Amino acid sequence: MSQDNAQQIDYWNGEAGHTWVAAQDRLDRMLAPITEALLARAAAAAGERIVDVGCGCGETTLALAGAGARVWGIDISEPMLAHAKARAAGNPSVAFSRTDAATQSFTDDHELVFSRFGVMFFADPGAAFANLRTALAPGGRLCFVCWQSPRDNPWVSIAGAALKPYLPEPAETPDPRDPGPFAFADRDYLRTIVEGAGFTDLAIEPLTPTLQVADDLPGALDFMARVGPMSRAMTELEGDDRDRALEAVRAALAPHLRDDGLRLGAACWLVSARAG
Ligand SMILES: C[S@@+](CC[C@H](N)C(=O)[O-])C[C@H]1O[C@@H](n2cnc3c(N)ncnc32)[C@H](O)[C@@H]1O
Repeated sequence: MSQDNAQQIDYWNGEAGHTWVAAQDRLDRMLAPITEALLARAAAAAGERIVDVGCGCGETTLALAGAGARVWGIDISEPMLAHAKARAAGNPSVAFSRTDAATQSFTDDHELVFSRFGVMFFADPGAAFANLRTALAPGGRLCFVCWQSPRDNPWVSIAGAALKPYLPEPAETPDPRDPGPFAFADRDYLRTIVEGAGFTDLAIEPLTPTLQVADDLPGALDFMARVGPMSRAMTELEGDDRDRALEAVRAALAPHLRDDGLRLGAACWLVSARAG
């Protein structure tokens, strides 16, 4: 399989990268329960050397550094890295590089390879994970979180089902393992990739938090249309079609609105392993 991640490099350096920067605060608040569980599982210790893979706007890079570790955030997205660097200005414990994690040449002196949703975008995940393993000293830890299937993620599936009638049928059925947020939804496939790359002591635990997606419905629609899986689908719609689709999504989400905002369920895999 090709190690060419050019399509993802284009995607994350284009509009997607800029919208992630604009929505960084909202996204980090929404993902906070996942971040907390992931950081607890990773148990970073003072003095450790860590690679934060697909670090994006730097939220977890900074959090890991807060535990006293020295953290190297790597990402392919220039706009997201620029935002991460600005947030980390003056922090001597973090460094950032624009590089493809699948092909970066590592030295094996890190104790932890970590990622919040940054490892599902590789053209050849087996080769990419084998490369990530080379960053770890013997016995070093791998710890990341990835999404379970969209149908197990109401924060995606409710809007997705409402949107479906307005979208053209895809010319061919997409492969659910293609690079993208849900590439590792299949637990057995995920196990094959991580163990096949030479990791041992693999644990894949379900994590099913409720996410605070937005404070109100207009906020939720705006957010979903700009960031994440629904925004990718929305790019195919224009004019009246887009307005009707948004109205359908609004109607589907409305019953889930509560006093404290729109809170929807999510399902991830919390993955940990060791370099064998
Ligand atoms: C869903 S975002 C998550 C960003 C960040 N970890 C967070 O949780 O906010 C995925 C990130 O992975 C990065 N990414 C995708 N493919 C990559 C690759 N081959 N090497 C490094 N980073 C990559 C993207 O640029 C993007 O920043």
